[in-house]
Amino acid sequence: MLPVERLVIHALAGALRPRLAIEVGTERGDTARLIARYAQRLICIDIDPAVRRRLADCANIEVVTGDSARELPRLLAELAGAGRGVDFCFVDGDHSYEGVRADLSALLASPAAARTVILVHDSAMAGSRRALRDAVAEARVPIAACDADFSQGVATDIECLSATRAGGLALIVTGADPALARLLRVEPGAVTLPELCERIAPTRAGLLLRGWRQAVPKRLRDRLYRWRRGARR
Ligand SMILES: C[S@@+](CC[C@H](N)C(=O)[O-])C[C@H]1O[C@@H](n2cnc3c(N)ncnc32)[C@H](O)[C@@H]1O
Repeated sequence: MLPVERLVIHALAGALRPRLAIEVGTERGDTARLIARYAQRLICIDIDPAVRRRLADCANIEVVTGDSARELPRLLAELAGAGRGVDFCFVDGDHSYEGVRADLSALLASPAAARTVILVHDSAMAGSRRALRDAVAEARVPIAACDADFSQGVATDIECLSATRAGGLALIVTGADPALARLLRVEPGAVTLPELCERIAPTRAGLLLRGWRQAVPKRLRDRLYRWRRGARR
């Protein structure tokens, strides 16, 4: 995950202070620990049974072990039945079209996610983008805002820039009342990341530079430096 993407999670979770958050796809727990700093309660769903042990020291994190295609709809039905709403959800599990589509469709069909800020990781990947588009088109909860490039992805292979992309965060805000979207200043297609950085990171220049270093492959950076040196002579 790029530093700038961690920054977005900091900014959103910090601004929202969610009572209840869900993470789909947890692995070593890096983003879970980040979200759990701000959330009262975080429920993580991961197919890997080792995740529970890795996060055993976090009092406000519960881990559900299993396939999110089954566990997420089950959890959402349970929450909706209890009249609970999810304030924040981070989707970072199965990145295939089918996986992202299933996770988003479950969220966008549930009354428990009717007023929720959803971040989708690796939204630059072709399958994720299609899944996002299709799930939003068929959403049963109102969509206040959707931005597939809330934080843009990166090209991971400079030899074929258009083919290989990774990273990126998509943002979906659900809710009939657009006040939440306005609060986050999210309009479809709007570039909001600099504002978020402005709000939370006095050292954003440093963070963004680190993000750039990580985002741009070394070979390309070297080429650019060589080109600049050559241009100055
Ligand atoms: C990219 S990692 C998550 C990284 C984590 N969010 C972070 O940035 O710190 C993806 C995780 O999703 C889990 N996963 C993959 N397919 C899944 C599925 N169908 N249901 C639940 N978890 C799944 C994997 O076991 C893995 O731990």
